Amino acid sequence: MSHIKNNDFYEIMTGRRSIRSYDTEVKISKEEMTEILKEATTAPSSGNMQPWRFVVIESPEAKAALAPLVSFNQQQVATSSAVIAVFGDLKSIDNAETIYGKAVELGYMPQEVFERQLPALKSYYASISSDVNKHMVLIDGGLVSMQLMLVARAHGYDTNPIGGYDKQNIAESLGLDKERYLPVMLLSIGKAADAGYNSVRLPIEAVAQWK
Ligand SMILES: Cc1cc2nc3c(=O)[nH]c(=O)nc-3n(C[C@H](O)[C@H](O)[C@H](O)COP(=O)(O)O)c2cc1C
Repeated sequence: MSHIKNNDFYEIMTGRRSIRSYDTEVKISKEEMTEILKEATTAPSSGNMQPWRFVVIESPEAKAALAPLVSFNQQQVATSSAVIAVFGDLKSIDNAETIYGKAVELGYMPQEVFERQLPALKSYYASISSDVNKHMVLIDGGLVSMQLMLVARAHGYDTNPIGGYDKQNIAESLGLDKERYLPVMLLSIGKAADAGYNSVRLPIEAVAQWK
């Protein structure tokens, strides 16, 4: 069953505001959260390696453990239905066979493309520096996060992207290997309890140029 409540893309996009206060009565079922994540992960990613990893923090215990790591962002954690911690897996290449193999199985990719692409992709990942890998997973993680925020609105929820948290300790506090999982951002999600703030955007003349 689909939980989509709003399918008006323009309204979803222009109506999005960072929401920092939520209706504490509203929980998002695991079924719907799974649907939200599934829809968000239709986002594109480098080599289709899908390095995004999510931890859905929703129990009072897990939220209490998160609270000391989010400095001035307490209200989002306390009132949201969940905080989704988005990470980038620095070993995303380990899924290459699974992803490309499935594409062959489904008839999306010819076998000869698989045989050509897979070794090329593996040698590329083996050749890049740790910095390049980090940039890649952060870009992919940003794309899925943006898509998740829009998908949330389609489901009738709002979000706040959060960068103000302890990135040094978040992975370990969630039981993840900090050498492998790079923090991208936190996303609080829930039913808005206020309208948020209007915010200014620079004019396009200031941010774009034509050549
Ligand atoms: C990567 C990122 C990190 C952010 N970190 C925080 C944060 O720690 N706390 C917060 O209240 N808002 C945070 N924001 C929200 C921005 O303040 C907000 O997106 C911006 O002011 C524009 O407002 P809008 O989202 O309502 O359009 C963050 C946004 C982004 C994209």
